[in-house]
Amino acid sequence: MSNFSRRKALSLGTAASAAGLATAFVASTAQSNTQQPIASATGQANPEGQFSEKVVLITGATSGIGEAAARAFAHEGAIVHFCGRRENLGNQVAQSITASGGKATYQKADVRVEQEVKAFVNGCLERYGRVDIAFNNAGIDRPPAPLADTTTEVWDDIINTNARGIFLAMKYEIPQMLKQQGGIIVNMSSLGGHRVFPGISPYHASKYAVEAITKGAAKEYAEQNIRVNAIAPGLVETPMTERQIRDWNVTREELASGYPINRISTPEEQVRVVMFMCSPEASYMTGAIVSVDGGGWG
Ligand SMILES: NC(=O)c1ccc[n+]([C@@H]2O[C@H](COP(=O)([O-])OP(=O)(O)OC[C@H]3O[C@@H](n4cnc5c(N)ncnc54)[C@H](OP(=O)(O)O)[C@@H]3O)[C@@H](O)[C@H]2O)c1
Repeated sequence: MSNFSRRKALSLGTAASAAGLATAFVASTAQSNTQQPIASATGQANPEGQFSEKVVLITGATSGIGEAAARAFAHEGAIVHFCGRRENLGNQVAQSITASGGKATYQKADVRVEQEVKAFVNGCLERYGRVDIAFNNAGIDRPPAPLADTTTEVWDDIINTNARGIFLAMKYEIPQMLKQQGGIIVNMSSLGGHRVFPGISPYHASKYAVEAITKGAAKEYAEQNIRVNAIAPGLVETPMTERQIRDWNVTREELASGYPINRISTPEEQVRVVMFMCSPEASYMTGAIVSVDGGGWG
């Protein structure tokens, strides 16, 4: 373990203490004060479900939270159009949704590239004629490093994917929503969009930007019936978290112990909240940053 990652592992313990809970106490009570983690929706899609015939655009649904969202919205009757760069995975996800009676199409697009984001939104409009809901989820992290050791390549990649990518998505989604006289946008932030942990400043900068543009756009378009909110997950069981466990050289348990709830959420526990934010039950919610972070840290 490098000095840096060793220090980080210790910091993770400190985060648990800072939350006011000794790790052992959290572990012993975790069973009694947590709900059962929600598993993915299974079985045939319901064409008359909660999002029947709603057109849902999702960035970054080739894996992780985006994939779980594509499956869950399609399961509830939505027509899902999603992107990501890995064509094999994109096609597999679309085929598997279709095989269970859902409606989903994959279009390759890199959210860092303006023309590809524009083509992705247009691809949805050509196929389905509208965008009712947009879940701007695509994002990356990179291995930790102190700021002065961070390369400009890493800085640019994280900012261009996580912040610029969401700006570009909204830039092309909002004009269509204005034409339709309404729409719903959920952007992907993170606990790291309003709390800072040493070693991943570019990631924090990108997610702070997501929260800022979410709040700005919410105010700009509230009167035009476009709601804009962000979800801010803590730890989620996805390939990104697998990479963090490797990059930070920590165990799954050490990572989870930094959070009062002392476990990693399933992607579905995040997606359920996204679906609520996109439902009529959330009709007065705009400009909100919704934490789904097991109590968070810091
Ligand atoms: N996992 C967590 O604990 C956690 C916590 C808080 C927030 N989040 C956020 O949740 C979001 C999803 O992450 P995840 O945990 O589900 O990890 P993941 O499995 O790595 O998913 C990331 C998704 O984003 C896509 N993506 C990345 N760069 C892209 C690009 N340039 N253009 C288009 N798509 C791109 C990936 O597709 P391709 O690789 O195929 O392009 C993939 O579908 C991210 O914004 C992340 O910051 C995650």
